[in-house]
Amino acid sequence: MNKTIIVTGGAGFIGANFVLAWVKQSLGKVVNLDKLTYAGNLENLVDIQHNPDHIFVHGDIGDQTLLAELLIEHQPCAVVNFAAESHVDRSIHGPEDFIQTNVVGTFNLLEAVRAYWGGLTLENRQKFRFLHVSTDEVYGSLSKDEAAFTETHAYAPNSPYSASKAASDHLVRAYHHTYGLPTLTTNCSNNYGPHHFPEKLIPLIIHNALAGKSLPIYGNGQQIRDWLYVEDHCAAIRRVLEAGKVGEVYNVGGWNEKPNIDVVKTLCRMLDLKKPRSDGQSYINQITYVEDRPGHDQRYAIDATKLANELGWKPEETFETGIEKTVNWYLANQEWVKNVTSGEYRNWVQTHYIERGEELA
Ligand code: NAD
Ligand code: TYD
Repeated sequence: MNKTIIVTGGAGFIGANFVLAWVKQSLGKVVNLDKLTYAGNLENLVDIQHNPDHIFVHGDIGDQTLLAELLIEHQPCAVVNFAAESHVDRSIHGPEDFIQTNVVGTFNLLEAVRAYWGGLTLENRQKFRFLHVSTDEVYGSLSKDEAAFTETHAYAPNSPYSASKAASDHLVRAYHHTYGLPTLTTNCSNNYGPHHFPEKLIPLIIHNALAGKSLPIYGNGQQIRDWLYVEDHCAAIRRVLEAGKVGEVYNVGGWNEKPNIDVVKTLCRMLDLKKPRSDGQSYINQITYVEDRPGHDQRYAIDATKLANELGWKPEETFETGIEKTVNWYLANQEWVKNVTSGEYRNWVQTHYIERGEELA
């Protein structure tokens, strides 16, 4: 079977890191379908813009006609679905896009893939994979002492974002159970690393610190997330694609739980060393506590034992090495940051943080 894969959402943060690594490792041709929303950025893909193994297609996962054409033309052996609206705060401000892309879009993608897959030879049908990239947020929130999420943890999504991802996970499950579509689902914890759009915590803090702006902490800053370096997530997806058992779910995590305030202070201390403030003060002085996120999940924690035991995956980076690589990338790519923080970004930070009593634009 052809080694071509179709990736959706490959101009966004994780998708771009995945596509860059796939092409650089010469793993085959990638057709990259992306709608280029505010979060999609072709600048993430400049390193491979002339590489014949990368074909960019501007389009929507909800467009079944386009999908059918791409599937017939390129005859992929796999589809990897990253495309989504991905920011919890935006889902609170305006949930509709989340339902449209994450639920209806995934449904349309599944329908197009089912039709294509049904037309393959038996041998190619068995080799084909549909890998759906999802999040640990579908499992809801944990208290401090509860065990980390395993793959059998009950779904209890709390935000419009996580509810829309949960709905898409259920559709993927149903397409395997009902039609036999060879699906795989990964549920991963919070990623960080290069090309991360600076509306999410880690890149927002780096950007605001360097810009002399306040560093907004929601509520008391004691909410806990598990953080995974993005390249480790991409390696996990490659491994699941290669050896995952059809119809199964794999949790992906960094074994690295941290309260938000600790993450922010770590970033401040690293920036104090690498790019000291001109007045000699610590960036920690820029921390400001702002109004909390409504329905803010207290804690996410991933138990990635299944992926480790069955497929032999474990993260390469520790939080310390990963965060240093991330800070170095942002310091070396200030032009990228400048380009993505103009335009629409300014409207978002203005509206969102003014509601929390902070002027960040
Ligand atoms: P992102 O917001 O940075 O990128 C999403 C990409 O999808 C963008 O390029 C956007 O243009 C594209 N897109 C949006 N709607 C589309 C549509 N209708 N059709 C085609 N393309 C569309 O998101 P991300 O952080 O890279 O996340 C990628 C996936 O991983 C998402 O499914 C997300 O739920 C999941 N995930 C993210 C994290 C995280 O920490 N960022 C953790 C676990 C899982
Ligand atoms: P975020 O990066 O939006 O990811 P998610 O909500 O998907 O976990 O936020 C990570 C954590 O940081 C979350 O608990 C919310 C918090 N946070 C802040 O305290 N301040 C901010 O300005 C942002 C964007 C997030």
